[in-house]
Amino acid sequence: MRKKILAANWKMNLLRDEAFHLYKEIATFSDSKEIFIFSPSLYLSELSSIDGPKIGAQNFHFEKFGAFTGEISLDQIASCGANSVLIGHSERRQIFNENNEVLKLKVDAAIEKDFDIIFCCGEPLEIRKSQNHVEYVIEQLKESLFHLDVLQLKNVSIAYEPIWAIGTGLTATAEQAEEMHLEIRNSISHVYNVEVADSISILYGGSCNEKNALELFSCPNVDGGLIGGASLKASSFKEITNALYGLH
Ligand code: 13P
Repeated sequence: MRKKILAANWKMNLLRDEAFHLYKEIATFSDSKEIFIFSPSLYLSELSSIDGPKIGAQNFHFEKFGAFTGEISLDQIASCGANSVLIGHSERRQIFNENNEVLKLKVDAAIEKDFDIIFCCGEPLEIRKSQNHVEYVIEQLKESLFHLDVLQLKNVSIAYEPIWAIGTGLTATAEQAEEMHLEIRNSISHVYNVEVADSISILYGGSCNEKNALELFSCPNVDGGLIGGASLKASSFKEITNALYGLH
């Protein structure tokens, strides 16, 4: 059975006290569930001192240490009590010019440190319009992820986040999500094998909220969600959690 996973990507939101309170509220319903909170890194240390869901960093540098002003390393993140990272988020790709090559270095660095990875992929609108979305997304995975061996891949979950759906209120339909998730799973099956493909959790992200979560999570190949805006309020994140874990 694949793990159901729900991840909150808080992005560059919430002040320290707000993050602290939201985390505590989420902790009241996260017990025995696979929930990750990708908080601003500044707060990781404090959050790790509270009993609650797993915490992770939204970004890091692939080098171990050194003269990289403003960057943080995986060892530093681990020293703050977090062992999970997001890699390949479209905002990192688009705004900070992280390409598939750089993302591969990040994947290797995180694997070496035995971090859990949520690897994000997804196509921009023009690629979707030109009907090349499947090839585009599979190429992202091939260039940054599929060099891992079977054992290394056990640390990885994949998040499909169509860029045109992120923060736009425009969600992929359940059919669109299922189509891509199935294609991703088939590509894992081709590169590795069916057992590996069946074991990897593939999350959907992009305007997933309390209203559409149940429909998206009902798709056979959607194993959870990576939630942005709707993870910033405990009430909506709780409803999304209930949708995933069948508590509605
Ligand atoms: P929204 O849920 O705000 O669309 O953001 C999705 C996302 O980018 C999560 O990583």
